[in-house]
Amino acid sequence: MKEYKVECIKCGARFSKEDIVYTCRKCGGLLNIKYDYSEIEVDRIVKAKGQGVWKYRVLLPFDEETKPVTINEGNTPLYRCDRLAKSIGIDDLWVKHEGLNPSGSFKDRGMTVGVTKAMELGVRGVACASTGNTSASLSIFAAKAGIPCYALLPKGKVALGKVAQAMMHGAKIFSLRGNFDDALRVVRQLCDEENLYLLNSVNPYRLEGQKTIAFEVAEKLDRGVPDRLIVPVGNAGNISAIFKGFSELKTLGITDSVPKMTGIQAAGAKPIVNAFKEDKAEIIPEDNPETIASAIRIGNPVNAAKALFAIRDSGGVAESVTDEEITEAQLELARQEGIGVEPASAASIAGLKKLVELGEIDRDEKIVCITTGHLLKDPERVIEICEAPKEVDADVDVLRKMLK
Ligand SMILES: Cc1ncc(COP(=O)(O)O)c(C=O)c1O
Ligand SMILES: [Zn+2]
Repeated sequence: MKEYKVECIKCGARFSKEDIVYTCRKCGGLLNIKYDYSEIEVDRIVKAKGQGVWKYRVLLPFDEETKPVTINEGNTPLYRCDRLAKSIGIDDLWVKHEGLNPSGSFKDRGMTVGVTKAMELGVRGVACASTGNTSASLSIFAAKAGIPCYALLPKGKVALGKVAQAMMHGAKIFSLRGNFDDALRVVRQLCDEENLYLLNSVNPYRLEGQKTIAFEVAEKLDRGVPDRLIVPVGNAGNISAIFKGFSELKTLGITDSVPKMTGIQAAGAKPIVNAFKEDKAEIIPEDNPETIASAIRIGNPVNAAKALFAIRDSGGVAESVTDEEITEAQLELARQEGIGVEPASAASIAGLKKLVELGEIDRDEKIVCITTGHLLKDPERVIEICEAPKEVDADVDVLRKMLK
């Protein structure tokens, strides 16, 4: 049996593996999964065979025998982006395209672990609140596992591609009159009362899957750690998970540093940026978050404490970008590098550009930006910002004239 602890980050209280608990019952703090790192054989990470999240199972909270619920998540490409780097005025830029996960977002890394845990616990079903991608991913893993999936989506606020996925894969979807933060509040209560397993990123098992982003980055860079890693921030689970991954590699002596964790929020939903800039320990939730980047339209990020620690401890920063800056970055990434991402993902590129202009990022830093979701998630936004196809007769002369 693999030993690990589920521990409160605030008061250190511990909970058992069989306990269905998302935040500390004593103080309400967030929970972390901890291993006995002295027991872990480094070779089982650096020489591990296979691909994707389960390649790193020695650092996942399961026994060898556990059969994962998997759809081959992870193993996403890390592209070197010289054209974009040149236009921004930096030397060494890489983009890890998490939109190339099976469901089109990084959430799959967390869901393979979360739904495997749900099966181990023997719950009646799984549930989430979602700005879209969480429900799209969870519905797929629940289908694969053969258990019911319930998703609470803020009414009229979710990109079309994501709702289509959750509908197609058989989730029971509720269109909630309220925003994402309202949906999360309600679903947390529902899960506690109805023996459903909550798979939002407050669930520490989900973050265990998402930390493998760090393992893949370090591996692709030959155990090299970038100077900085930039990631869009909504509920702040992903930045916390990636930081944990890099911290574990350092603890194990596989790498010797952790990148400056840099979190980017939208200007209309930036409680973490505010807390960071004002040097506050806690965020002040925003009641009416607003941005075209619907995936990060979140006013009360549940993982704020973990994210603020990650940013500060690693010497990173938090910055916000406007919707116009996000759109510009989305177009540049698509047209200069062939990487198609949804608006929230482009926030990492927009943040990079802004921080270079502000002189916060040095031009010779080695930088990895995470793009979290695929372009096809939000086709309506593409239609809003791109030139429409021109209708034309089937006549080559007319076409030739139009080319000029
Ligand atoms: C595409 C995309 N980017 C970023 C995020 C934000 O991730 P987190 O909530 O872990 O900060 C989300 C979350 O829904 C997302 O779907
Ligand atoms: Zn506690």
